[in-house]
Amino acid sequence: LFGTSKVENNVLCIGNIDVITLAKEFKTPLYIMDEEHIRNICRRYYDSFKCEQLKNRVAYAGKAFLTLAMCKLLAQEGLYLDVVSGGELYTAFSSGFPMEKVYFHGNNKTMEEVDLGVKLGVGAFVVDNFYEIENLNSIAKVYGKKQKIYLRVTPGVEAHTHEYIKTGQIDSKFGFTGIGEAEAVLNVAKKTLELDHIELSGLHCHIGSQIFETEPYRDAARIMLNIIKKIKVELDYEIKELDLGGGFGIYYNEEDEPRKIEAYTKIILDSVEEFCKENKMAVPILTIEPGRSIVGNAGTTLYTVGSIKDIPEVRKYVAVDGGMGDNIRPALYNAKYECVLANRVEGKKNEVVTIAGKCCESGDILIENVKLPLIESGDLLAVQSTGAYGYSMSNNYNKIPRPAVVFVKDGKAKLVCKRESYEDVIKNEINL
Ligand code: LLP
Repeated sequence: LFGTSKVENNVLCIGNIDVITLAKEFKTPLYIMDEEHIRNICRRYYDSFKCEQLKNRVAYAGKAFLTLAMCKLLAQEGLYLDVVSGGELYTAFSSGFPMEKVYFHGNNKTMEEVDLGVKLGVGAFVVDNFYEIENLNSIAKVYGKKQKIYLRVTPGVEAHTHEYIKTGQIDSKFGFTGIGEAEAVLNVAKKTLELDHIELSGLHCHIGSQIFETEPYRDAARIMLNIIKKIKVELDYEIKELDLGGGFGIYYNEEDEPRKIEAYTKIILDSVEEFCKENKMAVPILTIEPGRSIVGNAGTTLYTVGSIKDIPEVRKYVAVDGGMGDNIRPALYNAKYECVLANRVEGKKNEVVTIAGKCCESGDILIENVKLPLIESGDLLAVQSTGAYGYSMSNNYNKIPRPAVVFVKDGKAKLVCKRESYEDVIKNEINL
């Protein structure tokens, strides 16, 4: 159990509210976000990354989970925000999030997105390729602005993680290849320095996601600092900012052994300081972009159990009222989750069951072979650690409306995103 989750009278409570009450008030499936837990993690990142003392920045990766309420929370906690699309940017803007604290990512931003970003005044574009730099320069010219940019570099560091979500290796659709003599990056830097409406502020890399080791961050930091050093020596230009991306791993199941947040921030701070000392360089302002590790463990998805199919000696399927529409990760990445029988948490676990979703697809299995107390239709099942890439990757497959999202804290539940209705599911359709 993470954050404020606990068991009271054999019922799961989050933010001091029992989930039976939440199910009654908001129905199921329901995304429950533990607000205090999110805030605690934000503060641990902010403090341990020395944001106050060193002006370092923690830019939450919005792709993990972004709503207006989440943006408000981030602004209150003093975090920056990484967005990757016009839609995420619009969400941040609509919430009143300070635009100068936004980093705009993406390997293929459209002209409209670039335009919106410049117009709204995002702090920095993390540019991925020449095509984008040229577009950006011409759009910034129209607005009479000089746009700050970071160059995204692929440092060639390979972190051990699921193949689909590895982005730091050389064969990547992201960024400029920065390995070897870093000539490629030097050339790009040189070219950007010639453009009137672009200001090269920093370099950026991201070595992957759900990474447990700390060493890859040291390697990446050294590679990036070496490029900064080369740019200084060969182009006489000082890059003052460095963004080392996100990817810090979290616990989903007993196979996962994440390090503490403070271990990741420490290795980054220490290795940067060490390199800069060795090379007599000024220490750049650092940014990290955690997404999953801020919201992942704070999220729980609450379902109601419906049909149960027992195939003797083969398997017992327990079907819930959601599935791959609200959590596609098991189907897409073979991701493993843990769950509890939320209305009878501490019963004797003498059944092994498979939790199935309600989508018309055999692969819509949320959890295979989990030990639970004897389960009945109408029970509440809570799947844990669904806060990252659950709601944000949700979809309307089978025209199933998306669940509501609530923030819970100190015995109060705040609805931050309404449950979709059937009207919502057809709202863009034209009845010819
Ligand atoms: N910065 C950049 C440039 C990224 O590409 C990502 C994630 C992050 C930060 C945040 O990484 P995090 O701290 O959340 O690991 N849908 C996949 C994850 C895709 C991650 C893509 N980039 C999943 O459900 O596991």
